[in-house]
Amino acid sequence: GSILKLLEDKIKKEGIVLPNNVLKVDSFLNHQVDPKLMYEVGKEFKRLFGDLGVTKILTVESSGIAPAVMAGLAMDVPVVFARKHKSLTLTDDMFTADVYSYTKQTSNTISIAKRFINDQDKILIIDDFLANGQAVSGLFDIADAAKIDVVGVGIVIEKTFQKGRKLIEQHNVRLEALARISKLTDDGQVEFEN
Ligand code: G4P
Ligand code: NA
Ligand code: NA
Repeated sequence: GSILKLLEDKIKKEGIVLPNNVLKVDSFLNHQVDPKLMYEVGKEFKRLFGDLGVTKILTVESSGIAPAVMAGLAMDVPVVFARKHKSLTLTDDMFTADVYSYTKQTSNTISIAKRFINDQDKILIIDDFLANGQAVSGLFDIADAAKIDVVGVGIVIEKTFQKGRKLIEQHNVRLEALARISKLTDDGQVEFEN
């Protein structure tokens, strides 16, 4: 993988280490988006998950959308993003799940309209970060409620020192993270696995 090298170089060059083990990557992923880099990310997810018969990609707004759409483009499947704001009407038509954010110490309800998923779907979940795994777990809750099969989880940046991977491994699906960060140091350096 050269996408791995591209991504790690970008993180080293433009990532900013904030307090509380947060990596700011708003120059290419979380605010401004680098489309070419994201397209490489999407093609890598196709390489990693292309043999599983995926029919639909799920993510959560907002930062999951860029990598998820590029994966959908590469794999030629639709992309659905769970919405975070509470919908006051038509809740019978939505699947919902509660997601707690350790970073922001707030709880969000995420929701997906029932009409955009059906029980024949084979789902690939894509997200920008894997930290504590709460966002991905919320998507698993929705998939369970909808009785649909999740066949894989693809992550752009994993912080391996947090507990997300353990949580997702309980679901026995293929889990692939591209950049895997083992440590964010006090002096602002980013260390990768291997
Ligand atoms: P989790 O989903 O893995 O449990 O993440 P956690 O609750 O710890 O974090 C909440 C939000 O912060 C999530 O985004 C998650 O993607 C993001 N996040 C976690 N760690 C980092 C990090 O080191 N750097 C950055 N940039 N983001 C991180 P979200 O609430 O869904 O927000 P967004 O998608 O609207 O940006
Ligand atoms: Na996110
Ligand atoms: Na985020």
